[in-house]
Amino acid sequence: MNKILILFGHPAFKRSTMNTAMRAAVESLKGVTFHDLYAAYPDFLIEVSREQDLCEGHDVIIFQHPFYWYSTPAIIKEWFDLVLEHGWAYGASGHALNGKLTFQALTAGGGIENYRAEGLNQFTIRELTTPYQATANLCGMVWLPPFAVLGIHQGLPDTARRRYAEAYRRTLVALRDNRLNLDRARQCDLLNQNLDTLISEV
Ligand SMILES: Cc1cc2nc3c(=O)[nH]c(=O)nc-3n(C[C@H](O)[C@H](O)[C@H](O)COP(=O)(O)O)c2cc1C
Repeated sequence: MNKILILFGHPAFKRSTMNTAMRAAVESLKGVTFHDLYAAYPDFLIEVSREQDLCEGHDVIIFQHPFYWYSTPAIIKEWFDLVLEHGWAYGASGHALNGKLTFQALTAGGGIENYRAEGLNQFTIRELTTPYQATANLCGMVWLPPFAVLGIHQGLPDTARRRYAEAYRRTLVALRDNRLNLDRARQCDLLNQNLDTLISEV
């Protein structure tokens, strides 16, 4: 069984609807550690050794967050800046994250039609998240495309919200139990685009 660490960053969690549903769907799953960074570090004083220990104790590391200015909320950037130390995460003797699976679970206000070359934002979610992919590569991690819930500002109905939360839970259970086809997943634009073709049922 793979151990999963979710590093969660949402500065306005009380007003959240989508991340609330996703969190509720996975927080108490066996094998999952849910770590709320804004709750743990309201003053942004991230405890580097604690975070490194947490990473070392898990096989899958997920960054769950709303998309903010085509990127992550500030605490996740701060986490990268402080925790991914030379000699630990990368460099000649930095192998702590080697072989660990990683992906972003993100929610965005804009719909998929905005995330196209000819759309409002001119770039796809996959393109906009390439810095994260490059970071994972440098650290020798096994990168997967983002699990993305888009179009939240277009008034996502409760049924859709529940469906996304359930798909998130299903993804994590499959990863935990080694039932997600990683090679095929890496070819997808978004991890949750075609889950039925990626997950083998027991
Ligand atoms: C500061 C800020 C920046 C944002 N930037 C983006 C963005 O770049 N692209 C986008 O689609 N939505 C953006 N949004 C919308 C959020 O992604 C959206 O409100 C959030 O994903 C909804 O999830 P929640 O219900 O869990 O809060 C932004 C929101 C805020 C407050």
